[in-house]
Amino acid sequence: MPTKIEKDTLSGRETTGHEWDGLKELNTPLPKWWLYTFFACVVIALVYVLLYPSIPYGPGYFHGLLGASSRATVSADVRAMEAQRAVYMDKIKSTPIEQVKQDPQLLAVATAAGRIAFATNCQPCHGAGGEGRPGYPNLADDTWLWGGKLTDIQQTVTYGIRSGNDKARLSAMPAFGTAGVLKPEQIEAVGDYVWGAFYGHAAPGANFAAGKAAYAENCAACHGDNGEGNRQFGAPPLKSAVHLYGDNHEMELAQIANPRLGVMPSWEKRANNTGLDEATIKSVAIYVHALGGGE
Ligand code: HEC
Ligand code: HEC
Repeated sequence: MPTKIEKDTLSGRETTGHEWDGLKELNTPLPKWWLYTFFACVVIALVYVLLYPSIPYGPGYFHGLLGASSRATVSADVRAMEAQRAVYMDKIKSTPIEQVKQDPQLLAVATAAGRIAFATNCQPCHGAGGEGRPGYPNLADDTWLWGGKLTDIQQTVTYGIRSGNDKARLSAMPAFGTAGVLKPEQIEAVGDYVWGAFYGHAAPGANFAAGKAAYAENCAACHGDNGEGNRQFGAPPLKSAVHLYGDNHEMELAQIANPRLGVMPSWEKRANNTGLDEATIKSVAIYVHALGGGE
């Protein structure tokens, strides 16, 4: 079809000369501002492709003239954060634990570090919230074997209980049954007495007097005349609703005959680099102290 320039009579604009079924196309050029913006975009895109990581090829990609890398930015940020954290952890290490508790900034860092260290190292035995289970004491309640002050907890965690560490907390309830200290009927009597008078379950029976006497002679030195326990020996209160080995008559009798003597590992840094550093131990002690039973 021959093209000839015509003017549209209605709009007064030129047409392109194309015609479809009697409809003619107006010749409307792109607005200049649009065109220049478009060219600018093309130029910017080309410059961007040159400067920044862009075109992939084979196993790699074109890294760009600026060498920009978001991975490097993240690593630098992480390094900066670790350096900042190290400053705080150094401060926690050199500050007595009670004073760490007084300093809001150190306390915040210690609590965060303690939470992580607890989840990694303590949770398997003591439970996610420190709630414990038979044989593994609840760390979130008011009942303590060895003490619930910050320094008590710090010491327990650092050296452990019967852990083999030279400075571990030590005490051993005698194996009244297996070592032959008490006869089976005496164990039953003292067990019934403790179960009734302290655990609060059975009414005093025929064994009561014998059990009471056996208790005074063999047990009161550690567990107290009234079953109140003694932290000097890590001897749990027997007159309590909380029991290390559960509120269970069988377990109680078994403990008297042949005590379990639970072991809590020592977390002091060892020569082979296992264990936790001092600042982390303080942090985890602060975290445990705040679980609910801290004194
Ligand atoms: C392998 C198991 C195990 C792990 C892991 C463990 N504990 Fe213990 N922990 C015990 C046992 C068992 C006892 C009680 C020992 C006993 O019978 O006297 C205990 C006792 C304690 C006590 C004394 C509680 C009291 O009433 O005085 C504290 C505090 C404690 N653990 C904190 C921690 C912290 C903090 C961690 C992690 C850094 C940890 N434990 C990891 C087994 C464990
Ligand atoms: C040398 C101190 C000592 C003497 C003496 C002693 N105990 Fe214990 N007793 C402990 C310690 C320490 C524990 C907890 C340690 C462990 O086995 O994990 C304990 C735990 C117990 C428990 C478990 C408590 C709980 O909360 O689950 C019972 C029950 C108990 N003793 C009863 C007795 C009776 C009864 C006698 C006397 C016949 C006695 N004990 C004598 C130190 C002693």
